[in-house]
Amino acid sequence: MNSKIFTCSARLLRYCLHKHRRVFRVDPVRRMCYGSHQMAAVRSAVRTVDLRSDTVTKPGAAMRKAMAEADVGDDVFGEDPVVNELQKEAAAMFGMEDTLYVPTGTMGNLIAVMVHCRERADEMLLGDLSHIYIYEQGGSAQLAGVHSVALTTLADGTFDLDRLISKIRHGYPNSHYPRSRLVCVENTHNIQGGRVLPLSFLQELRSVADKFGLAVHMDGARLMNAAVAQGVHPCVILQHCHSVSVCLSKGLGAPVGTMLGGSKDFIQRAVRARKVLGGGMRQTGILAAAGRISLSDMIGRLEEDHRNTKRFAKALAECDPPLYQLDLASVETNILRFRVQDDYMSSDEFCERMARVDAEEVKALGQGVRVLMFPHIGGAIRAVWHLDISEEDTELAIQKAQFVAQQLRLKSVRAA
Ligand SMILES: Cc1ncc(COP(=O)(O)O)c(C=O)c1O
Repeated sequence: MNSKIFTCSARLLRYCLHKHRRVFRVDPVRRMCYGSHQMAAVRSAVRTVDLRSDTVTKPGAAMRKAMAEADVGDDVFGEDPVVNELQKEAAAMFGMEDTLYVPTGTMGNLIAVMVHCRERADEMLLGDLSHIYIYEQGGSAQLAGVHSVALTTLADGTFDLDRLISKIRHGYPNSHYPRSRLVCVENTHNIQGGRVLPLSFLQELRSVADKFGLAVHMDGARLMNAAVAQGVHPCVILQHCHSVSVCLSKGLGAPVGTMLGGSKDFIQRAVRARKVLGGGMRQTGILAAAGRISLSDMIGRLEEDHRNTKRFAKALAECDPPLYQLDLASVETNILRFRVQDDYMSSDEFCERMARVDAEEVKALGQGVRVLMFPHIGGAIRAVWHLDISEEDTELAIQKAQFVAQQLRLKSVRAA
């Protein structure tokens, strides 16, 4: 019996070592030095710091309990008590007449576009680095028949308002032109590294929109990060918008869900659009219960994510040797965009290196740290902080980034 268990665990260990060989990349000679016990110790000491996105969080005990205990009903009939509560609470928080619980941010944005742009070939204007324009598969054209005009996104996530005015069509109903109906903004701005839109920009944008009869939709997937960074209530930001979509499943830690906000009329139409897109869910209270905790308990802690992001950014800026390039002043919330100043390492290679643990590192740092990040648009790297990343994780990620910089310097000195 005992020998059977032993054979089984030896086989399991061999399988694990084989499976993880890419992660450890310990060469055969070292493997001989590190016996299987040491290898197992190295493996168990590896810590993963996952900075790929704030969507990777897992619901904690309070959320899971609320989900398990949720009193539910058929939400397509409007009978789910938890969803109804969540929608009321979100409307009050946004300072909007009503909200609708939808499965994703992508669907929330698409519904907003469909409701604001009701005629085929209606047109929306938006930043050329916005999530709606870049990452939502052109759903507004594909599914809603809406034409887009892309404006150059500036480093702070805004765009030039004179440029916007110059692009608004004035020919309607002349049959040559689309009809400009909507302008979309993103707050915080994902690709521009979590930038917060200045309130003055939103105010000016709204007067332009009012002057030319456009609606303003905010992709506020991370609106609460913006509100926390600016130290204002979300409704101070949203007073300049006709509609907003706010994700519960990013920094706010819910497993799923987005709140779409607007006027009563907007939400009535949004309910229809959600149904045709297949987003009419039934006993949704099980999910909405997590969303209620997002709004009540998770906003207050976003400050911690912002602090950790700034701490990491500062360490990269001060790293010796100076491998990293970033603008510290632009780090406002939980997203960091930076570059590696190394002719020999692409952003893909850097991310791959940060995710890999080798024996040299374990020796130098006392433990292996896998830091996961994504190569980002324009050769940059993106790292995102969230509730599953502690101050200690941040320190470990800093040590790893410093170790990689030192290792690279040693390599280039040896190569010279
Ligand atoms: C700014 C922004 N808007 C919208 C979305 C889409 O959200 P979802 O993944 O829930 O569709 C994301 C997702 O990362 C985002 O970053």
